[in-house]
Amino acid sequence: MKMPVALVWLLAFTNVLLIRGESNDATICKDHFMLDPRPHSVSILEFGAVGDGKYLNTLAFQNAIFYLKSFADKGGAQLYVPPGKWLTGSFNLTSHLTLFLEKGATILASPDQSHWDTVSSLPSYGRGKRYRSLINGDNLLDVVITGDNGTFDGQGAVWWEWFESGTLNYSRPHIIELVSSKNILISNLTFLNAPSVNIHPVYCSHVHIRKVLIETTVDSPYVLGVVPDSSDNVCIQDSTITVGHDTISLKSGWDQYGINYNRPTTNVHLRNLSLKSPTGAGISFGSEMSGGISDVTVELLTIQSSHVGVAFRTTRGRGGYIRNITISGVILSRVDTAIVADGHTGSHADDKYDRDALPVVTRVLMRNFTGEGIGLAGKFTGIGESPFTSICLSDIHLQTSSESWVCSNVSGFSDDVSPEPCQELMSSPSSCFVGGGIYGGDTAARGYYSW
Ligand SMILES: *[C@@H]1O[C@H](CO)[C@@H](O)[C@H](O)[C@H]1NC(C)=O
Ligand SMILES: *[C@@H]1O[C@H](CO)[C@@H](O)[C@H](O)[C@H]1NC(C)=O
Ligand SMILES: *[C@@H]1O[C@H](CO)[C@@H](O)[C@H](O)[C@H]1NC(C)=O
Ligand SMILES: *[C@@H]1O[C@H](CO)[C@@H](O)[C@H](O)[C@H]1NC(C)=O
Ligand SMILES: *[C@@H]1O[C@H](CO)[C@@H](O)[C@H](O)[C@H]1NC(C)=O
Ligand SMILES: *[C@@H]1O[C@H](CO)[C@@H](O)[C@H](O)[C@H]1NC(C)=O
Ligand SMILES: *[C@@H]1O[C@H](CO)[C@@H](O)[C@H](O)[C@H]1NC(C)=O
Ligand SMILES: *[C@@H]1O[C@H](CO)[C@@H](O)[C@H](O)[C@H]1NC(C)=O
Repeated sequence: MKMPVALVWLLAFTNVLLIRGESNDATICKDHFMLDPRPHSVSILEFGAVGDGKYLNTLAFQNAIFYLKSFADKGGAQLYVPPGKWLTGSFNLTSHLTLFLEKGATILASPDQSHWDTVSSLPSYGRGKRYRSLINGDNLLDVVITGDNGTFDGQGAVWWEWFESGTLNYSRPHIIELVSSKNILISNLTFLNAPSVNIHPVYCSHVHIRKVLIETTVDSPYVLGVVPDSSDNVCIQDSTITVGHDTISLKSGWDQYGINYNRPTTNVHLRNLSLKSPTGAGISFGSEMSGGISDVTVELLTIQSSHVGVAFRTTRGRGGYIRNITISGVILSRVDTAIVADGHTGSHADDKYDRDALPVVTRVLMRNFTGEGIGLAGKFTGIGESPFTSICLSDIHLQTSSESWVCSNVSGFSDDVSPEPCQELMSSPSSCFVGGGIYGGDTAARGYYSW
């Protein structure tokens, strides 16, 4: 058995944090992390940084990280960012590093495109060069990004304009992107005005995100909150996210590129989140899910003023699967459609996708939802050759303006659901996923349909 991540908040000075141990899959959010102080700490001021919001600090950050690399085998080190506005272009992190943003410290992303270099596409997506993200990690171990509610401000307005006018030559940068990295903690921070995705862990393991506030204006085009992508053992908890598109979106690659890369998003625990997305979804699965998405437990959500509450999206050519999903304790208010499962949505990476690569959506339990100010209760449109199966709804009560559930190519079971769902969702209870999730978080749901 793996050691649970044990966590102790040692806050003696500000040079906190190094993650020890590995998390046990079964309790991913409930683990307790071990955070030891880093033995060394340096301030960004020691590298000539100026926090006036005008001076470009990219070199200061790059030099600081370069210097701190030498502490990797000595317990790691902390880079301390004092109060101020620290304008910078993109920089890389290193292993065994804590980046600490003091109260009143804001890292401001440069809005000048010439400060951003480009990188090739991710192998599970195949297409398209992209701008490097503001904060990057590649192949890292033990990284903590935290603070006393310091801020990353992506200054995204200029990127949103370029995106909307179609003048961008590459995909927009993210605020934080971590690739092939392990043991990551992101906590106690505010993220504002992201150019596109706020936090993107891809091919990562053991990623904990807690106590973050993510905010962009709700008309920011396709700006996403957190996107766990082909990553496992991910916990996101105690956070508030308001963005222009999906607040949390689980993904795992695009069409043939994702199928070939074959790395699922699995063992994910989302807990105690307050979400808002007027043009997107609170929680979404896909539409890029070609490496598979499984074993996800979601509990204690409030989703307000959103287009969709929970969305499952896929299309022919994706391959992959979405399965073993348990979502419970969801309070919805003013949401156009509470639940969407759509098998005909999402574009293709290119025209070489395999039309016979049919995605599978099965074993989804949704339990204990309440909603007021809901438009449509649910819309389930599966794929003819690969209908959605074992979709189970229990204890779901939605005040809707139209009574309807829309269902096609879907099967499942419902118990204590109002308004009354469609026939397709009233088949035998034996079709139900024996839910409860893998985290034992919601004991009432565990074994609920245990026959
Ligand atoms: C950042 O990391 C990438 C590889 O992920 C590398 O190509 C690039 O040169 C690095 N930049 C700096 C400034 O170290
Ligand atoms: C998190 O932020 C709170 C409030 O700003 C602060 O009191 C606390 O020390 C921070 N915790 C860590 C681990 O930085
Ligand atoms: C963190 O800062 C943001 C603004 O920068 C503020 O809205 C939020 O309330 C703060 N959170 C905490 C826990 O202090
Ligand atoms: C895209 O490239 C063209 C041609 O090089 C350039 O004129 C244009 O400014 C670029 N777009 C943006 C948003 O920089
Ligand atoms: C939920 O998260 C908020 C911070 O966003 C925290 O104040 C609250 O105590 C958490 N509630 C539970 C039940 O964990
Ligand atoms: C999903 O749940 C079923 C039934 O509980 C279990 O047999 C299976 O191993 C789980 N995992 C995946 C990835 O399907
Ligand atoms: C249902 O969800 C609500 C809101 O998240 C929670 O407070 C309540 O305890 C849950 N009820 C059951 C029976 O799990
Ligand atoms: C199921 O899907 C097939 C193919 O997409 C479609 O022709 C059929 O009408 C669907 N069934 C229903 C009941 O809508």
